[in-house]
Amino acid sequence: MSRRLVIDTDTASDDAVALVMALRNPAVTVDAITVVAGNVPLDLAVQNALYTRDLCGSAVPVYAGRDAPLMRALETAQFVHGNDGMGDIGLPLSGRTPNEGHAADVLIETVMGSPGEITLVTLGPLSNVATALLREPQIANAVGHCFIMGGAGAGPGNVSALAEFNFWADPEAARVVVRSGMPFTLVGWDMSVRHATFGPDDAARIRSLGPLGEFCIDIQAVVDDYARTQSHLIGFDLPDPIAMAVAIDPGIATVEAHHIDVMIGDGEGRGKDIIDWLDTRRRDNGSVATHVVREAFVTLLTEAVAG
Ligand code: BDR
Ligand code: CA
Repeated sequence: MSRRLVIDTDTASDDAVALVMALRNPAVTVDAITVVAGNVPLDLAVQNALYTRDLCGSAVPVYAGRDAPLMRALETAQFVHGNDGMGDIGLPLSGRTPNEGHAADVLIETVMGSPGEITLVTLGPLSNVATALLREPQIANAVGHCFIMGGAGAGPGNVSALAEFNFWADPEAARVVVRSGMPFTLVGWDMSVRHATFGPDDAARIRSLGPLGEFCIDIQAVVDDYARTQSHLIGFDLPDPIAMAVAIDPGIATVEAHHIDVMIGDGEGRGKDIIDWLDTRRRDNGSVATHVVREAFVTLLTEAVAG
């Protein structure tokens, strides 16, 4: 039986590629897409998710969730992904209507309706998931597993010296999730830098695979510039897609179980994932990816785009 996913996303350029990978993979079924504010304001993220879903020929329901973090104002990453979040290439990203219902309620209903069966994949700030946990703590035990694109892992931050954007954007929510008892695996930004960076040749190969390939590459236009100039990479990287690849096929990742927490507040440590690499506290509460097989990730991406 195909595995069932629920995807929580602040849909912008790399989230959209991750959605393509899931919606076009016959080994998984997506029960719902829940949308959260993050890379872009909520309304834009919802439109981006709906556009991507339609492009994939999918009818999966899309639900809007929180338009801001739990305890602070939204600070978007439009300087990374473009004003529309999709590279500002002129896509018609308006006029579509999400399904009725709040993302947090949908998360609760879907997970509690099928205990142990739902794999949750989070690609944005954890505001929706934390809200669901605060409303119904039992979902922590009822989720099969949660794969989280979040944290810097063993590398530097991408939005501050220490922190990765999704945890930095809503650190209190990230802390609620990692402390909830939910079984989770972090796929941090270090995995993206090391195993999911696309230079011009790799990008051209994906783009040559057809209309979905063109979509997945062209919407990286603004990220590509940011990645080269700010992150000093050879091209754009795809953090959400590599997390999605691990969620689809956990066997492609090496993971370590450790005690994992998140720093809150507004200082330099805001949103920094705290990973007890040497198990000084010896209370594992989650896992963190330390390696992902790039070829397996690229194959999943290629098959989704070309298939
Ligand atoms: C994460 O932040 C967002 O900009 C990306 O979509 C990804 O989820 C990477 O730090
Ligand atoms: Ca994202």
